[in-house]
Amino acid sequence: MTEERRIKSYVIRGGRMTEGRKRALAELYGIYGLQFGRNYIDISALTPPGRSPERVVAEIGFGTGEATVSLAAENPDTLYIGIEVFPAGVGTILREIHERGIRNIRVIRYDAAEVVRWMLPESSIDGFHIFFPDPWPKKKHHKRRLLNTEFLELLLEKMKPGGYLYVVTDWDDYAAQISAACEGIEGFENTWPIPAQSRRPATKYEKKGLAQGRQVREIYFTKKLV
Ligand SMILES: C[S@@+](CC[C@H](N)C(=O)[O-])C[C@H]1O[C@@H](n2cnc3c(N)ncnc32)[C@H](O)[C@@H]1O
Repeated sequence: MTEERRIKSYVIRGGRMTEGRKRALAELYGIYGLQFGRNYIDISALTPPGRSPERVVAEIGFGTGEATVSLAAENPDTLYIGIEVFPAGVGTILREIHERGIRNIRVIRYDAAEVVRWMLPESSIDGFHIFFPDPWPKKKHHKRRLLNTEFLELLLEKMKPGGYLYVVTDWDDYAAQISAACEGIEGFENTWPIPAQSRRPATKYEKKGLAQGRQVREIYFTKKLV
C-alpha cells in the first residue's frame, strides 16, 4: 500500500451532532475508544475482563453502529473493533455501548485505510464486516471507492487463515467490482453463501437501498488455509 492513501473514501458529514452525541464522544471515547497510532494494537489487552475472545471481528464504516451493537450483544465472546470517521455515528455507538453495558466493542474514529494498515496485526482478524460501503456511484468518483484491489489485499494480510470478508452493498457495479477484485487475489476463496452465525441485522442504508428499488448484494470470501 502506498505511504499515504491520498484519495479519501469518505467526506466527513457533520450531521445530527446532538448534545448527547457530543457528550458521549467527549466522555466515553476514553473508555471504549482507541486513539489512532502507528503501532499494532494488543488484541489480548482489549478482551473483556474474565473472557478470552474466541473471535475478533473488525467492522469498517459502521455508521451509527446498529449492526455492530446487535451482533456484539449476541456474541459476547467475540471482540468487535469498529472503525468509523463519522463523528455523530461514533457518538451514537458510544452511547449505546455504555447504556447497554456492552463490553466487547472497541471503537476507532479514524480512516480505516490507515487503521487497518497500521493498527491491525497480520493474521489477527477472524472476520471483516463492511456493510454498505460508500458507493461513490458516479464514474468520476469510482477512484474514491474504499474496496479496491490494494485495500482488499491489505485486508487479506490481516485476516487469520480461514477468516472471512463479508461485504454487503446495494450497488450492482460496486458488488461486481469487489467480487472481481477478490477473485483476482490469490489467497481469497469465494465461499458464499454466508454461514448462519455471520448473519447481520438490516441497517439504515439497507432499508434505504431497498426503498429506492436497488437489490442487496452479499459478498463472502474466505482466506485460504495455505
Ligand atoms: C453508507 S454508510 C453505511 C453505514 C453502515 N454500515 C450502515 O449500513 O448503515 C458508509 C459509512 O462508511 C464510513 N466510511 C467511509 N470510508 C471510511 C473510511 N475510510 N474509514 C472509516 N469509515 C469510513 C462513512 O463515514 C459512513 O458512515
